[in-house]
Amino acid sequence: MSVTILRGRVLSFLSEPQGLDDTASYRYLEDGAISIVDGKIVAVEDFDSAAVGDAVVIDHRPHLIMPGFIDTHLHYVQSQMIASYAGSLLEWLNTYTFVEEQKFSQQGHASAVASAFYDELIRQGTTTAVAYCSSAPASVDAYFAEAEKRNMLMIGGKVMMDRNAPEALCDTAQSSYDDTRTLIARWHGRGRGLYAISPRFAITSTPEQMAAAQSLVAEHPECYVQTHLSENDAEITLSMQLYPDAPDYTGIYQDYGLLGPKTLLGHCIHLNRRETGVLAETGSVAVFCPTSNLFLGSGLFDHQRLSQHGVRIGVATDIGGGTSFSMLRTLDEGYKILQLRGQRLTPFNSFYMMTLGNARALSLEGTIGTIAPGCSADLVVLDSAATPAMALRMQTATQLVEELFLLQTLGDDRAIAEVYVAGAQAKSTIGGL
Ligand code: GUN
Ligand code: ZN
Repeated sequence: MSVTILRGRVLSFLSEPQGLDDTASYRYLEDGAISIVDGKIVAVEDFDSAAVGDAVVIDHRPHLIMPGFIDTHLHYVQSQMIASYAGSLLEWLNTYTFVEEQKFSQQGHASAVASAFYDELIRQGTTTAVAYCSSAPASVDAYFAEAEKRNMLMIGGKVMMDRNAPEALCDTAQSSYDDTRTLIARWHGRGRGLYAISPRFAITSTPEQMAAAQSLVAEHPECYVQTHLSENDAEITLSMQLYPDAPDYTGIYQDYGLLGPKTLLGHCIHLNRRETGVLAETGSVAVFCPTSNLFLGSGLFDHQRLSQHGVRIGVATDIGGGTSFSMLRTLDEGYKILQLRGQRLTPFNSFYMMTLGNARALSLEGTIGTIAPGCSADLVVLDSAATPAMALRMQTATQLVEELFLLQTLGDDRAIAEVYVAGAQAKSTIGGL
């Protein structure tokens, strides 16, 4: 039994912080030891107490070791169209997105982009993500094959879309059902892969396809469900025209049985009272995508309102509507959105959201998102003095909370000193796969 011990400052959350002085919400070790066997954490303690024996010790002092970041909504097939210039969501989808995603019926293209995508996730400290593939099954094969090769816990699925998009990108209700079933059988539970049934959004699915998604969800309760909800005013208007019998946008997904604790709903910006209540009752997750919401001018997510109504919340990059793969950059923009709403996001809450909060959003607490015995050793090592400006600011930071806030405000991939996936070094080995 070979043991690896990571030494450094260790920070992991135990619960959602209730304010800046909620020290019970996290565990912090000034000189900690994380013992890892077979990709799993077996002990977390002060380095002085650790049984070092003949373990391999990797010394990351003075850096901060945290659980690997989790991204609960992005599109890997949009990696090459970030920064596409559009006025708003529907123009952006029609002009760039639906063109770009057609390339992914080519297995070679899908595999090449998937490989670059995973490199970028690791560079940014993200060890688990939930991605939309394209409507082509080949894109899903490339996505999960690459995750398996890297031993990463990744969630994703084939986008189901059978209208209001170019023909080359559209499937049919029947083919999307058949392909999704085949892909679930092939990938769900293989390695660390988990499948998400993925009707893109109401606009691109006919009622027949919604019914097919409903059957898939009923037949595969072990799978996640992901879609988009209430991102943009024009999107909401068109959705209600296409589903005139639904009480509101959320009601469309509700009518087709798509809501529940494994359902991830990207954006959720413009919800009415009834919709918020339905999300809370069904345990569905509203996913906050700050950089995307700013880039596409979609609106300001109301974290406080959703949270007060008991809605579960995740946070995500939404690449390629989003503008950065970095969860640090994402939470920095999230902080600013909430500032404009008159709401405060504490640094503790930001780092909780990217780790344990998102693990809870995925019902994966105890597997990822915390540094505790039994969890996978998916970890990020943060260098708070990675750039000259960060180092300068660090000279005046005396408290952990200040360090976290400067990491979020000034940090990016340069602050990610190392990443571990199931106990194996992953950032320093990029290119060596
Ligand atoms: N709504 C439907 N598809 C998409 C997408 O690809 N990106 C975003 N941001 N919103 C969507
Ligand atoms: Zn999206």
